[in-house]
Amino acid sequence: MDYAPEQIVVSGGAKQSLCNVILSLVNPGDEVIIPTPAWVSYVEMVKLAEGKNVLVPAGIEQDFKITPQQLRDAITPKTKLILICSPSNPTGSVYTHAELQALVDVIKDYPDIMVLADEIYQHINFTGSFTSLGAFPEIADRVIVVNGVSKAYAMTGWRIGFIAAPLWVAKATTKLQSQYTSGSSSIAQKAAEAAYTGSQECVEEMRKAFQRRRDLVVSLAREIPGLKVNVPQGAFYLFPEVSSYFGKRCGDRVINNAADLAMYLLEEGHVATVDGGAFCLPGYIRLSYATSDDNIREAMRRIAEALARLK
Ligand SMILES: Cc1ncc(COP(=O)(O)O)c(C=O)c1O
Repeated sequence: MDYAPEQIVVSGGAKQSLCNVILSLVNPGDEVIIPTPAWVSYVEMVKLAEGKNVLVPAGIEQDFKITPQQLRDAITPKTKLILICSPSNPTGSVYTHAELQALVDVIKDYPDIMVLADEIYQHINFTGSFTSLGAFPEIADRVIVVNGVSKAYAMTGWRIGFIAAPLWVAKATTKLQSQYTSGSSSIAQKAAEAAYTGSQECVEEMRKAFQRRRDLVVSLAREIPGLKVNVPQGAFYLFPEVSSYFGKRCGDRVINNAADLAMYLLEEGHVATVDGGAFCLPGYIRLSYATSDDNIREAMRRIAEALARLK
């Protein structure tokens, strides 16, 4: 992919990059298509812009990826933006090149719609290949790619993210952020430069570690009756379907939904998970395996024990 320096805008983390784009492009009443489950902040950013969230659900049976038909059905004359996150938080799903091409084939029929591609987990990918949505020539002039150092280099606290965008979008976001943050810290920018220009061995080392942990967490989750899991292909999350526990109880405590289950696991199992409802897809919980193999084993042991107490 080929961008001029003026098309790159560096911000305080991918989060600000995303918010800059949404605030710059979305006017009140404009629709933003968001496949769900989706990272928690997208819908709130769209609300900040007074846009309308159009959620397109994709459950475990379709590996948490939307189909081209679902995308086409969600498009209306008010659609301004389509948001695609791959590899995904919270599911770890990764769209293949062919799956992206099929979505691109739909998008190319709607020349006024912009695409926001959140590729922050690009390097935590177990498929052996990665295609950016910005690399499809049919729509490249309408794609804003978001990336940053938080995940690949474990530099979350340095707060460096960026967009690679059509020049007019880059200019709009620059104008916006120049009024409210000026730019990101020069010290953090230097640190990011070191990350990008230094040896990339640590990135591959961590990718392999995450793949090993993925295998571990999936195999332990599969031993727990009632958890429905897929095999995530990237990021560091597992998103099990947990509805078989709904209606069960432990003493006076009744589990009615995934939020109840997440709270039960926290209070009784002492493991922090997140209710899938926070990602706009109820019936699931999110587990993060961005921790040591020992912590993963211990957490899964506690989860299994706590769940076995539900009758
Ligand atoms: C999908 C997704 N996009 C963006 C971000 C924000 O990243 P940053 O720390 O660079 O703001 C996160 C962080 O959790 C994320 O999961």
